[in-house]
Amino acid sequence: MRSKVVTIDRHIIDQERRHPGASGRFSALLYDIALAAKIISREVNMAGLIDVLGATGDTNVQGERVQKLDAFAQEVIVKAMDHAGHLCCMVSEESGDIIPIPKRFELGNYVLLFDPLDGSSNINVNVSIGTIFSIHHRASPRGVPGALADCLQAGYRQLAAGYVIYGSSTMLVYTTGVEGGVHGFTLDPSIGEFLLSHPRIRIPDPPARIYSVNEAYYARWSRGQQRLVDHFRGVNGEGGGGYKSRYIGSMVSDVHRTLLQGGLFMYPRDTKSPGGKLRMLYEAAPLGLVCAAAGGRASDGSRDVLDIVPEGLHDRTPLYLGSAGLVDLAERYLRRKRAGGFES
Ligand code: AHG
Ligand code: MN
Ligand code: MN
Repeated sequence: MRSKVVTIDRHIIDQERRHPGASGRFSALLYDIALAAKIISREVNMAGLIDVLGATGDTNVQGERVQKLDAFAQEVIVKAMDHAGHLCCMVSEESGDIIPIPKRFELGNYVLLFDPLDGSSNINVNVSIGTIFSIHHRASPRGVPGALADCLQAGYRQLAAGYVIYGSSTMLVYTTGVEGGVHGFTLDPSIGEFLLSHPRIRIPDPPARIYSVNEAYYARWSRGQQRLVDHFRGVNGEGGGGYKSRYIGSMVSDVHRTLLQGGLFMYPRDTKSPGGKLRMLYEAAPLGLVCAAAGGRASDGSRDVLDIVPEGLHDRTPLYLGSAGLVDLAERYLRRKRAGGFES
């Protein structure tokens, strides 16, 4: 039995108390996200028993097959978040354009950007999936509907970000930035509460020697990327070696492991996806902030992902995320023109 039981609501309120003048709106917003996560978790846990598996037959804005649970999670989040007066608009992987707040509801000061279900190709085979969220303060004056400029902000401007992982248990992990730290809560389904289980998460140092990438794309990578992975494998004269490879193919799960154990998660650019695959606003930036607030780093291979100002809602980016030393090593390999290995 732990010495203190802290629900996510209590934790959010305690955190907000540290900021005199805070309106309480922001706490209420995080609370609503936790509520949506519980509803999605319940449905994910019932997959196989109720008719939620399989594709809807639609294709989303990214050209991907929409799964029934993608559509369900999208609907739950929109319906949980649109009426409380916190938001001026939303952005989702599953919607091409900005999701407006219906006219009958009050407009708020925040923008919510989210990936309703990440790793959806894994839904039907009972592998962990997740939800990713990012919150910005609006850039435009209050009182009018949110517009593109409110959504297209650099990652370092996020007020909060996090994810929910629907795994062997359901966890919600969030940060309000480096000062606030990263905190993980585990859902106790018997009481329907997220309880603080992982306070102040820090990526271990030294980290586990783990790299995480879809190696099937090796032939499509740049020479620098190939040599980086050669280094982890200890082949082709690149030195290094002694690493394990782990790749779930569900970014939230791969990042969650990286956060708790250390290592390097990569989704590089390749000849098929020259701009990378992962989306800046609701995948790379929020998970990048979580990682940075836990003492790690997130880079596109040459610069900090949190510094990039996206030009479109669904912009993609190459991504290197995890233990700071390993992200630095990746950048050195990608910069390198000449042969010869690096120490790590
Ligand atoms: P989503 O299910 O939200 O479209 O995201 C899938 C992403 C991410 O979760 C994962 O890291 C990556 O796609 C896997 O891609 P590959 O199958 O190309 O490795
Ligand atoms: Mn995703
Ligand atoms: Mn998704």
